Amino acid sequence: MSGSVRCLIAGNWKMNGVLQEAIDFVGGLQENASPEHVEVALMPPFTLLHTLNARLAEKGVVMGAQNVYYEPKGAFTGSISPMMLRDCGCHYVILGHSERRDVIGENNEQLRKKLDAAWAAGLEPILCIGEHLSERESGATNAVLKSQLAILDSVPGNALLTVAYEPVWAIGTGKTASPEQVTETHAFIHDELKRLGCDCRVLYGGSVNPSNAAELMGCVGVEGALVGGASLKAVSFMAIVNAAAHEFG
Ligand code: PGA
Repeated sequence: MSGSVRCLIAGNWKMNGVLQEAIDFVGGLQENASPEHVEVALMPPFTLLHTLNARLAEKGVVMGAQNVYYEPKGAFTGSISPMMLRDCGCHYVILGHSERRDVIGENNEQLRKKLDAAWAAGLEPILCIGEHLSERESGATNAVLKSQLAILDSVPGNALLTVAYEPVWAIGTGKTASPEQVTETHAFIHDELKRLGCDCRVLYGGSVNPSNAAELMGCVGVEGALVGGASLKAVSFMAIVNAAAHEFG
């Protein structure tokens, strides 16, 4: 269900980046930024998509967006449709990031509508799932992930999909899940995805950086990373890509 390359390293810039920073970033990427066996993608803010499309493609980097609305067009002030993202050259769209679930209040019902709309436009959603610290500490991790994945019931057979496991307590905190926690949780997610008939690629996310990327990418069931803070600079992003290339090469 995921793209043909097994490992994906995706940079999520969140609400960061203005034009000059983006141009400097692309200038700092190595000539072919996607090594063999690793696909590299960048999700800049909407405002940079059009400008970055050709520049990223030249470096072998695929582009995505960080959110989309589920209606195709019309009176939805401030919203962006799936076809608008395609028009800018996007292949991916991040959906269900914990910052959107927790800060904006996005729920499962809206997310399923967004998934369907993304698929209808030919986009590949990266569906983010993950538990809060209190949920992990009370032993509820698997139940939380199961309920977040339940929106993948009856997914069209040809739908493109990547899932990203991001423990909320590891996002932007400098804390990462231990290799044991990552391996165990990815095994649960893969089993659940198989049960739902969506056998897709599963990324890890949450404070991935050049120092921990090799260990995290080496965990069984991890097929790439969703990278926030460390994707803002070409040097640290490329270091993560190269660590992944070493693991998946
Ligand atoms: P982080 O963010 O790498 O800065 O922790 C990851 C994410 O939120 O996707």
